[in-house]
Amino acid sequence: MLYGSKYGSTKRYAAWITEQTGADLFDLSEFDPSRLEDYPVILLGSPVYFGRIRHIGFIKRHWKVLERKKVAVFYVTGIPTDDVRQERIVRKGLPDRIRERVAYYPLRGAFDYRRLHCIDKLLMSWPRVRLYAKWRIRRDPAARQLLDRFLSLQDWTTEEAIVPITSFAR
Ligand SMILES: Cc1cc2nc3c(=O)[nH]c(=O)nc-3n(C[C@H](O)[C@H](O)[C@H](O)COP(=O)(O)O)c2cc1C
Repeated sequence: MLYGSKYGSTKRYAAWITEQTGADLFDLSEFDPSRLEDYPVILLGSPVYFGRIRHIGFIKRHWKVLERKKVAVFYVTGIPTDDVRQERIVRKGLPDRIRERVAYYPLRGAFDYRRLHCIDKLLMSWPRVRLYAKWRIRRDPAARQLLDRFLSLQDWTTEEAIVPITSFAR
């Protein structure tokens, strides 16, 4: 079980999966890729930032080794797992021939604006302005609701959500 996590929700899911499967757990930033050879099943956990699975490049870089293994990616997003935009997230990052051989699982993460690093706060001000405009111009109630919640902690992580991934790993 390899993971990268900036604000902790991907790490939380990775820890739950490890507890339930007995997998070895590694933070990607400290992982020696030569160790991939030791494992028949590789799970990669990554957050989604700005429409992309942050660590998906790892799969591409090490595909020569990974193509002989069972590989799954769980990606942690701020939007609901059944949202139509999930398809777009999965389509980015890997060529079709690799993507078709990898299992993808979306998991819903957490978002706490007040805890974001400065640069992320700055980058997230644009979606906030867009929500405000949607509310002011179109009176979209969903935009109003998201805006109201923007500044408070939203945590959608649940241990039950990992069931399909633990089944895959077994
Ligand atoms: C700067 C920033 C950009 C984000 N962009 C997206 C996005 O494009 N799509 C999405 O579904 N979630 C997005 N999110 C929500 C994250 O995927 C969510 O907060 C996730 O739980 C973060 O994982 P982590 O806690 O392991 O870092 C974004 C969050 C931040 C802080």
